[in-house]
Amino acid sequence: MAAHYFDEEPAVRSAPASVEVNLADMSLQFRTDRGVFSAHRLDPGTKLLLNEVSLLPQHSATLDLGCGWGAIACVTALRSITGRIWAIDTNARARYLTALNAHDLGVQARLTVAAPDEVPPNVRFDHILSNPPIRIGKAALRSCLAMWLNRLSATGIAHLVMQKHLGSDSMQHWLSEQGFPTSRLVSRSGFRILEVHPIQDGRVRDAT
Ligand SMILES: C[S@@+](CC[C@H](N)C(=O)[O-])C[C@H]1O[C@@H](n2cnc3c(N)ncnc32)[C@H](O)[C@@H]1O
Repeated sequence: MAAHYFDEEPAVRSAPASVEVNLADMSLQFRTDRGVFSAHRLDPGTKLLLNEVSLLPQHSATLDLGCGWGAIACVTALRSITGRIWAIDTNARARYLTALNAHDLGVQARLTVAAPDEVPPNVRFDHILSNPPIRIGKAALRSCLAMWLNRLSATGIAHLVMQKHLGSDSMQHWLSEQGFPTSRLVSRSGFRILEVHPIQDGRVRDAT
């Protein structure tokens, strides 16, 4: 069976490596490994997201949806000294790396790494940041996004980075149709950053 970056327990043998991340405001070293997304460099879409999206006020709760080796979660934790960050991923090796990186960077006390079904149902997020898992397929991706976007707080906001040729425009259209006000914040180098707001009238739609 083919290996995927979103496999729960990657079958590919571990080969620890490291990646240097250079952003507008910081340069950091991260641990990575085979069997996780973009193991040899910071994905250019993730880099765009981290350079373009500003932080919400301190004390907010942020979700890194599909954390991989933890770039978004750890950078957010370093930028937001009082905020609480959740980093979730279905891939156990990705969660392990995110926890290691959070520890290396000294932000582990404010960052919770979890499998998606370990997040208590009452937790709401002020900010969701994601380079979402396009490769899981359209239906699964829509279901996943709708589920977490329905957990935005009333004034919450989500920023999703997607490649134009992997369906960012149709995702924007679909999210709007579901009732999530969605606009294009940035369009650059083949990537879009979508800005998504919670459904306004309190409806919680199911995912399909
Ligand atoms: C495109 S990668 C982004 C990884 C990382 N945030 C980055 O920017 O480098 C998407 C991540 O979502 C994870 N994933 C796949 N399905 C998921 C799901 N249902 N819930 C949460 N994470 C999921 C994958 O394992 C993968 O690590």
